[in-house]
Amino acid sequence: MVDIKTKESPFSPGKPVQPEYFVARIKEIQRLERAIKQTVAGRNENVFITGQRGIGKSSLAGFIRSLAEKEHSLMGSHCFLGGVRSIEDMMGVIFQRLLQDCTDKTIFDKLKEVFGSYIKELTLFGMGVEFTKDRSELRTLVDNFLPVMRKIYEQILSSGKKALILILDDLNGITDVPQFSQFLKSFVDELATSGKPLPIFLVLVGLPERRDDLIKHQPSVARIFDVVDLPTMSKSESEDFFINMFDRQNVRITSEALSLMVGPSGGFPMLMHEVGDAVFWQDKDNRIDGQDALTGIMEAAQVVGRKYIAPKVSSLLKSKTYASILQIIHKKAPLGGMFSRQQILEALPSGEQKNLDNFLKRSRELGIIEAMEARGEYKFVNPLHQLYIWYEAKNKQ
Ligand SMILES: Nc1ncnc2c1ncn2[C@@H]1O[C@H](COP(=O)(O)OP(=O)(O)OP(=O)(O)O)[C@@H](O)[C@H]1O
Ligand SMILES: [Mg+2]
Repeated sequence: MVDIKTKESPFSPGKPVQPEYFVARIKEIQRLERAIKQTVAGRNENVFITGQRGIGKSSLAGFIRSLAEKEHSLMGSHCFLGGVRSIEDMMGVIFQRLLQDCTDKTIFDKLKEVFGSYIKELTLFGMGVEFTKDRSELRTLVDNFLPVMRKIYEQILSSGKKALILILDDLNGITDVPQFSQFLKSFVDELATSGKPLPIFLVLVGLPERRDDLIKHQPSVARIFDVVDLPTMSKSESEDFFINMFDRQNVRITSEALSLMVGPSGGFPMLMHEVGDAVFWQDKDNRIDGQDALTGIMEAAQVVGRKYIAPKVSSLLKSKTYASILQIIHKKAPLGGMFSRQQILEALPSGEQKNLDNFLKRSRELGIIEAMEARGEYKFVNPLHQLYIWYEAKNKQ
């Protein structure tokens, strides 16, 4: 028996993964590493990492930053702009993060000189940097962004750094601000026409809709940023994920358990962490078998369901008819697979058939199911949602 106190789950549901726990994504890494090398050679590279919620954008960006810093002597920061609604505030976040992320005392002292009076308070070598919140000071930084970045670059050169990397993540609020798109374009254009290269790798990270917002405000953004669109992980990538993660805690997995876990995760790393974590805590003997996997998956479906879709599902299940339609869908559609309207229609008692179209419309609006390319075919947005909904519908009945 393993002492529960000594157990530590290698899974981190809900948080971007630490670079040392990062798996797969070889193709995307190669592409981004090429951009890093181009940057080091003196160019300005610009990339937009996009993909569905929870697909691994921030994790990939974090991994790339770590690779850039460790293997290619870049320096930079990963800024989360979730609550930021203006480019002035963005300046505050960018430079505060840059100072906070700086772990080299010599470089830190040089940056301190660059920012001088913009730094309002300093505690313990960078740990607690309080950057200015004064709007007019922040405005000066917006207007002088390129010269400031140049200055930073010149300062870090003598410490062996070769280029800069700036990651702007969680662009939810700022993409609504038209000046942000304009700011990006002006920065890139100004740099290109200055005749004086600056090796800076600019990485934007956000949902596809956020990129659309940017392009709506400034169409040139579409050509400035190369797109890295993250797909769901393949079956073999998902298998590698579970094998590697469990291996870190010396836990073995039977092949039955492995395929049971891969299916309901549907290639979404976020779900893989939820499934992995739930299964990990089922295990008592450092060996995951089919039963551990099954119990863990049901547990994960509940966790994910409660976190993401519980209110939507409970509104849907208020109707007994919808609950029985869901039961039929569950019998017809394999986990993660699709079902057709016709199939469900045929299985429904004749009195209930008229409710099917309403049900499909409502579920689509709620984001529970999505339409496939072929007309009249649907699938659940992800397999764990399907499992949760089936479980809730069964309880309801
Ligand atoms: N390559 C990977 N290896 C291991 N775990 C990963 C990988 N990519 C993502 N994850 C895990 O998947 C989950 C979602 O990842 P992340 O937060 O990076 O996604 P995201 O696309 O940035 O999500 P959001 O759209 O919510 O910002 C996290 O638990 C993270 O640890
Ligand atoms: Mg993210």
